[in-house]
Amino acid sequence: MVALAQYLAICDKRFFKSAIAELRKSELVDTGSIKRIYDREVFLVNSKDNQKTNPDLALEDFEFFDFVVKIDKAIVFSKNYAEIAKSVSEAVDKGKKFKIYVKKYESESAERAKDIEVAIGTEMERMGFLADLKKPEIAIFLVFLGDKIFIGKSAVGELERPKIIDWFRPSNVDDKDIGLNRASFKIAEAFNYFKVNPSKIKVAIDIGAAPGGWSYYLASKDIKVIAIDNALMDYETLCEKFKVIVISKISRGSAESIQNTIIGNGLKDVHRKNLSVSNIEIHQAQTMADLLKSYDIVQIKAPAEEAEKYMAYLKALHPGLLAIDINVKPKYGIETAKKFSQALDPEGIIITTLKFATMDTAGTISYAKNSMEDVANAIKIKKLPHNRKELTLFAYKK
Ligand SMILES: C[S@@+](CC[C@H](N)C(=O)[O-])C[C@H]1O[C@@H](n2cnc3c(N)ncnc32)[C@H](O)[C@@H]1O
Repeated sequence: MVALAQYLAICDKRFFKSAIAELRKSELVDTGSIKRIYDREVFLVNSKDNQKTNPDLALEDFEFFDFVVKIDKAIVFSKNYAEIAKSVSEAVDKGKKFKIYVKKYESESAERAKDIEVAIGTEMERMGFLADLKKPEIAIFLVFLGDKIFIGKSAVGELERPKIIDWFRPSNVDDKDIGLNRASFKIAEAFNYFKVNPSKIKVAIDIGAAPGGWSYYLASKDIKVIAIDNALMDYETLCEKFKVIVISKISRGSAESIQNTIIGNGLKDVHRKNLSVSNIEIHQAQTMADLLKSYDIVQIKAPAEEAEKYMAYLKALHPGLLAIDINVKPKYGIETAKKFSQALDPEGIIITTLKFATMDTAGTISYAKNSMEDVANAIKIKKLPHNRKELTLFAYKK
């Protein structure tokens, strides 16, 4: 008899209802096995067929879970690291270089996850196992939950680290490579998860662009960016790598006064050559296209409602991506996505975050999907590792 694989699935409490519905209708899960444990948003489930599932596959198939990890065994919580290491060692091949990842949920342990990783790793090494933090062959996941510790593992490929590491504890990811702020990860994860090929996108519209994490990431992929936000961006960081022009209405302050504010905010002189400010009244569809030839990022310094007036200009640029990350209610986010999708050609990509301030999410999610169907195909929603209190919606313009 093949032992069934058991998984620990954890979701954000905001998405609890949607998550449980998703588990119940999943073809991968033995629905009779779904067990909510510790009275929180944590489930233990069995897969239907051990042969067909692996941790990454299971993870990919769930929209609403923070992560789904395959569990080898569960042990009773103990403060004795040598004891924990002994249990872990039984689940791991001695010849493989390992790295331990710990995640704590309402655990009896008062120590930091990082410190626990080091302590157990040290014990394992004492037992003759080989730790390798840079290039592990096997990732060991330890979930500290209530009075238990759940132990799971995943093989790490030569070239590709399993996605599950990023999903397990997003703060493990090294920020310096990706961008300007935490938001950069959200767009990077969306590109990765939804398999977006950046080289196919020449121009993107980035709404709610300030301070610029998404714009920075997109520009790094050689995509020209129209950034729409009335707030000032982080020109200091952007202008280290990119040429930026800010265009604003005269009524919102002259180009000179905006430039002075930016310099007053501390823009270093060396970056000034990469930053221009001008007034929008002098720009037309044609000059907008010209601006994109000379600049990597063109910021329309205005809220989306005002930038709507320039829809014809935007459309003329044939943007391949509409990216939206505005801190407004999801319904308003969807309205904005629908409106600005007019600027995209058919098959253009739409990526928008949906922020959830309240617990009533299931209705909003189906509203978002139904409402987007007017303008888009292949709509998908996913809770990505760096999404907090929000989901990411992906779709193709019809
Ligand atoms: C969460 S931040 C965006 C972070 C950004 N994506 C990044 O990568 O750095 C939300 C932004 O939405 C902007 N915003 C809010 N309402 C907006 C609107 N109606 N039109 C345009 N931008 C808006 C805010 O000014 C704020 O800068």
